[in-house]
Amino acid sequence: MGHVDLRSREESWGAGVEGDVEALQWSGAVAANAEQSISLSTDAEQALAAMHTARELTLGLVAGIDEDDLIRVHSPIMSPLVWDLGHIAAYEDLWLAHRHGGLALLRPELAHLYDAFETPRAVRGEIEALGPDEARDYLDAVRARTSEVIAGRGVGNGMVCEMVLRHELQHTETMRQTMAIGGLLGDEDRARLDAPLPHDTPDGWLQLGGGPYAVGADGEGFAYDNERPRHTVELRPFAMAHRPVTNGSWMRFSEGGGYERREWWSHEGWAWKEEHDITHHPAVAAGHPDAPACHVSWFEADAFARAQSARLPTEAEWERAAAWSRQMGDGSSGGGPLAGMHRVWEWTQSSFEGYPGFVARPYREYSEVFFGDDYRVLRGASWATHPRVVTLTFRNWDLPQRRQIFAGLRLAADA
Ligand code: AVJ
Ligand code: FE
Repeated sequence: MGHVDLRSREESWGAGVEGDVEALQWSGAVAANAEQSISLSTDAEQALAAMHTARELTLGLVAGIDEDDLIRVHSPIMSPLVWDLGHIAAYEDLWLAHRHGGLALLRPELAHLYDAFETPRAVRGEIEALGPDEARDYLDAVRARTSEVIAGRGVGNGMVCEMVLRHELQHTETMRQTMAIGGLLGDEDRARLDAPLPHDTPDGWLQLGGGPYAVGADGEGFAYDNERPRHTVELRPFAMAHRPVTNGSWMRFSEGGGYERREWWSHEGWAWKEEHDITHHPAVAAGHPDAPACHVSWFEADAFARAQSARLPTEAEWERAAAWSRQMGDGSSGGGPLAGMHRVWEWTQSSFEGYPGFVARPYREYSEVFFGDDYRVLRGASWATHPRVVTLTFRNWDLPQRRQIFAGLRLAADA
């Protein structure tokens, strides 16, 4: 997986948090839950059960990994796996025990180390953080107190709990990215990553009409700040490929001069390719020809699309097409006209910007600090994304040179 620009990208919590979580205007079931604080409510029970299941997944992921590989820096753009464990605990302690429960932090001296913004990925291998057993103890100790908080005062409107839960689930995907780089993925995971699309997967294009389309999350339920507010975008008629780009197609691109034809590359993409001497894609070359191409950067995805006289979809187009597909299909990821959904994240051409009227909540470092021209948006989900965090409106983002994500693309074109 070499040859990538290894500048660190930070994600974060804590730093510069403004206001109180309780005061946030999450549009959840506030009223519905207002009377449920006497005994352990169904909401609290469900939250605890979901958090327990998430923890089993997290610990199961690292159970077979030896101490050295947990501590090792597998890539300078990724944290050591043991850092993710400590960070998951610290995040839960901050938001559930401290903010929601009003307790002092369990280990205030660790707050800085496990703040993703204050301690960026590039330095996480050098810091004196917890070892694997200590990190597991920290997870346990935090969970003991957050369980008490939830049993005692319920989940409030449920939004902080849901955020903490999804945070842990999101980190299991980040950890799998690190594991993929370190050659630590289990057989089952590798099989999911490299599974060919079914033989009867439709080829060709789904045609979609133009007109106004409401993008983003509506008032109901959990959504991240960057998915709100829902707003209307005027779309021109367009087409979306039925299937994601496969390794086989990518090999034809590569063998047909994909990495040599200047005219297919953006200025920045070409500069990146030249600087890092990128001449092919090793993971794609090693993958099953009928599996979705994975681990491709935005720069490469953009060049690939141009080579097909196509383009990457905008976010709004992606959301419109995915919504249509879901409506036409079985209501989940399968059955609709867009095949191979949720196998790989799909790069869009859009930069990561706040929607008109964006309000940061509950903290600016979740997304606002990444807004601008630097980051590109990915939509959908990958094989490694937990279903609980998969939604139609979820926005993922990363730098255009990054290859560590389980990311591919689906072509779009003007109609
Ligand atoms: C939404 C995947 C870009 O990893 O930076 C994890 C998720 N935020 N901890 C990231 C996240 C805080 C975030 N992404
Ligand atoms: Fe995090």
